[in-house]
Amino acid sequence: MSQINKAAWIREPKGLLTVDEAPFPVASDNEIIVKNEAFAIQPFDAGVRAVAYIPIPYPFILGNGVAGIVEEVGPGVSKFKKGDRVVIDTPSYSAKESRYGGWQQYVVGKQATAAKIADGTSFEDAAAIPYALLTAVAGLQLKLGMGKPGADKKGKVLIWGASGSVGGYAVQYAKSAGYDVVATASPRKFEYVRSLGASEVVDYKNDQATSQLKAMGPFDFIMSASGDPASANAINEILQPQGGRFVITRPRNDQMQIAENVEYIYDFLSMVTQKPENSEFSKWWYDEYLPSALAGKVVPTPFEKRTGGLGGIQQACDDLTGGKNVKKLILNASDS
Ligand SMILES: NC(=O)c1ccc[n+]([C@@H]2O[C@H](COP(=O)([O-])OP(=O)(O)OC[C@H]3O[C@@H](n4cnc5c(N)ncnc54)[C@H](OP(=O)(O)O)[C@@H]3O)[C@@H](O)[C@H]2O)c1
Repeated sequence: MSQINKAAWIREPKGLLTVDEAPFPVASDNEIIVKNEAFAIQPFDAGVRAVAYIPIPYPFILGNGVAGIVEEVGPGVSKFKKGDRVVIDTPSYSAKESRYGGWQQYVVGKQATAAKIADGTSFEDAAAIPYALLTAVAGLQLKLGMGKPGADKKGKVLIWGASGSVGGYAVQYAKSAGYDVVATASPRKFEYVRSLGASEVVDYKNDQATSQLKAMGPFDFIMSASGDPASANAINEILQPQGGRFVITRPRNDQMQIAENVEYIYDFLSMVTQKPENSEFSKWWYDEYLPSALAGKVVPTPFEKRTGGLGGIQQACDDLTGGKNVKKLILNASDS
């Protein structure tokens, strides 16, 4: 009997999602088929649905990461076997193939961009953590050259926007590599950010924030996790007069004034492991760092579990793009 698969389809640019049958996928060389037990709705996915800002073929299945159970392995797969608990990042947006889309019950992933989940870790945590954690670690380690956890480095790091998901993981990562972490956040989040490992937290809305932070420097590494223009302009000021560089989560825009002696480093950090030139980083990420992070080495940033399964994705997307201050949203594709 052939197996049934269902997906939340987008059938035209900006179209509403409809849940319907999808082909049961086939695993090619070095690929696995994963039964989808939990997935996060990322603002990026919700944005692609709402404003179609990257070209994709329609109809299409959005989403590019899920946690679940290996259902089948393709030829050449040695890292995983049927029944393993895994988390996968898929090339749905680069390959532009729906079989890699995360918003379906059975998803194809590549063994090179999959990691095992420890027995005690829930599928929800495993779905919630990797995207923002990868953004933080790729920014600090791959782009800026920060060492690895346990490197026992000395020096100072500035994380702007430390109370969010990316910022929270950036604080934890820098601390785990041995650095003294200075962070910015709203005052109501100070204690939380300190609990993640920051030694000093500054209110970025305070008029004196830039001069206070400048006095606390110099910093060996700087990241704007919030990615907003005010953070970029403040960091530019903190780096004067000698100049320097920083990594940021959002692209440069005309509200930002960045001096010539400052390097503005931006990339799709959450997707760096899809690029062949980052294969060494990717191997470390999926085989070493991510499994240990999911086994309890990082504190998950808060998320909300939603019901409704594939049928709940449209509402989750609307909540994310509608400006509501919602937490990361996690759904299970098997829920009805
Ligand atoms: N390049 C990539 O690959 C990539 C990947 C993932 C995310 N991103 C981008 O990274 C950013 C952060 O994502 P996230 O998931 O961490 O978001 P998040 O969990 O919603 O956190 C954002 C944090 O930024 C702070 N913030 C909000 N408005 C701010 C402002 N005007 N100035 C300074 N700080 C502000 C808030 O801190 P307080 O509550 O303390 O005020 C909030 O905690 C988003 O813009 C997202 O689109 C980029």
